[in-house]
Amino acid sequence: MDDIAVNVNGKSRPLAGAPAHTTALDWLRSTGLSGAKEGCAEGECGACAVMLATPTPEGGSAWTPVNSCLVPVYALNGQEIVTAEGLGSPGALHPVQEKLAEAGGSQCGYCTPGFVCSMAGEYYRDGREAVAEGAVDDGCPVHDAEHGPNGFDLHALSGNLCRCTGYRPIRDAAYALGAPESDDPLQQRLGAPAPIPVATAATVDDSRFIRRASLDETLRLLRDEPDALLVAGSTDWGVEVNIRGSRAPLVVAIEHHEELRTLVVGDDEIEIGAALALSEIESRLGGAVPLLAQLFPQFASRLIRNRGTIGGNLGTGSPIGDTPPALLALGARVVLASADGEREVDLAEYFTGYRQSVRRADELIRAIRIPLPLAKVTSFQKIAKRRFDDISSVAVAFALDIEGGSVVAAKIGLGGVAATPLRARATEEALVGQPWTIATVRAASEVLGSEGTPMSDHRASSEYRALMLNTALLKLYSTTVLDNKEVSA
Ligand SMILES: Cc1cc2nc3c(=O)[nH]c(=O)nc-3n(C[C@H](O)[C@H](O)[C@H](O)COP(=O)(O)OP(=O)(O)OC[C@H]3O[C@@H](n4cnc5c(N)ncnc54)[C@H](O)[C@@H]3O)c2cc1C
Ligand code: FES
Ligand code: FES
Repeated sequence: MDDIAVNVNGKSRPLAGAPAHTTALDWLRSTGLSGAKEGCAEGECGACAVMLATPTPEGGSAWTPVNSCLVPVYALNGQEIVTAEGLGSPGALHPVQEKLAEAGGSQCGYCTPGFVCSMAGEYYRDGREAVAEGAVDDGCPVHDAEHGPNGFDLHALSGNLCRCTGYRPIRDAAYALGAPESDDPLQQRLGAPAPIPVATAATVDDSRFIRRASLDETLRLLRDEPDALLVAGSTDWGVEVNIRGSRAPLVVAIEHHEELRTLVVGDDEIEIGAALALSEIESRLGGAVPLLAQLFPQFASRLIRNRGTIGGNLGTGSPIGDTPPALLALGARVVLASADGEREVDLAEYFTGYRQSVRRADELIRAIRIPLPLAKVTSFQKIAKRRFDDISSVAVAFALDIEGGSVVAAKIGLGGVAATPLRARATEEALVGQPWTIATVRAASEVLGSEGTPMSDHRASSEYRALMLNTALLKLYSTTVLDNKEVSA
């Protein structure tokens, strides 16, 4: 326990017996670093944002902003973080703080430490200036529209809320940022590797947090202690802890295992490691899977995507999770690992009931495999109350192959219309073999509108959900006609 410590703003600080469920935010503030604030404690406001040194595929580091209110502090053992206090001081402001002050981007200041950490993460992002010059196309039309003249991606701030200043001065500050100086210590730090997560075993008040060095050790632990709760990015679990008061006697951290951090584009399939954060997948795929490229900007905020994983999105088993409909349409398979070896399950067979799956307690999701080639016509439609940073009321993902004017293959994934994500099998059957015409689409839309068993809740009524299903295929059809994709190849 004595060796357990976090490097904060360049200085090692021992964790010294913090309870196992302590969040990084609560711990930071208990050490006197009260810059990061608690606004919501559930990942919605970004007042708690700090920067975490994370590994890049090239072997260097990135300063990745994360919500410290959701991360268990023991997950940061041996890691490096920078808080608003570490960026600058009143007498020596960091460029981000300086620009924010000049633009009048802070009034009460409660949100400001979180904003400066999110802005600093983007300030130091490798490739930001290339985007400014138009040299990089990440495949996302939303992103292209929201880059500043300096390449600053405004979506970097999508997880930060400000109650009193208004966003225009904050945007002005972001767009006024130049490039980091070469002697900036935080810029220089990026050339060196991120710290390797260290094995951790903390027991406080009958509650344990364990990180094993190797995947084999983790799998043996799961075999011996099947009640263990896995935690990856903790963007779901952190909310459970903070808002619902959930506690687990044993939490096992898995997001560091290299076997869960693969991203391999092969001839027959793409394998995506379950513990890759959604932002990592987004940037490493670089638009190679258009359906996912459409999905990512609509998934929560940048802060959440920086930490939340694809394995966690399946592991939580929510019927309104965003990746399952897309992965169902892509025909994805789930690789489950245990001490006995691996098995592969079709995602369409994975969910068995509300938040239930075929995964055994001694198994974890190691990877997701997407078969190649990809369907040519794809679309992800998320219907939510807000366009960004909201949970789906309904999500529909289409993957169709249309040849010679007819539908030759169709996979459709649905979320929010049943106790589990599901394939719209009847609609798929109604499409395959039919000409891609408005008559086919209208007939299939009637079938689609009756798929699942949508219910009414605070997000949407069952009638609304059915109606959204009913119109989704028409929306896709209109875009294919506009794009002239209907008779391609
Ligand atoms: C503000 C906010 C907005 C959000 N918006 C969205 C959204 O728009 N769309 C959406 O789909 N979700 C959203 N979420 C939910 C969440 O961010 C995602 O579900 C995320 O993908 C979870 O990943 P994680 O690594 O953080 O999971 P964790 O919290 O670490 O784990 C979640 C669950 O999955 C299990 N688990 C984790 N990894 C594995 C694994 N490899 N194998 C087996 N089980 C595993 C854990 O045991 C736990 O039960 C949001 C959450 C917040 C707080
Ligand atoms: S306190 Fe609101 S996101 Fe962390
Ligand atoms: S300055 Fe008051 S909340 Fe942003």
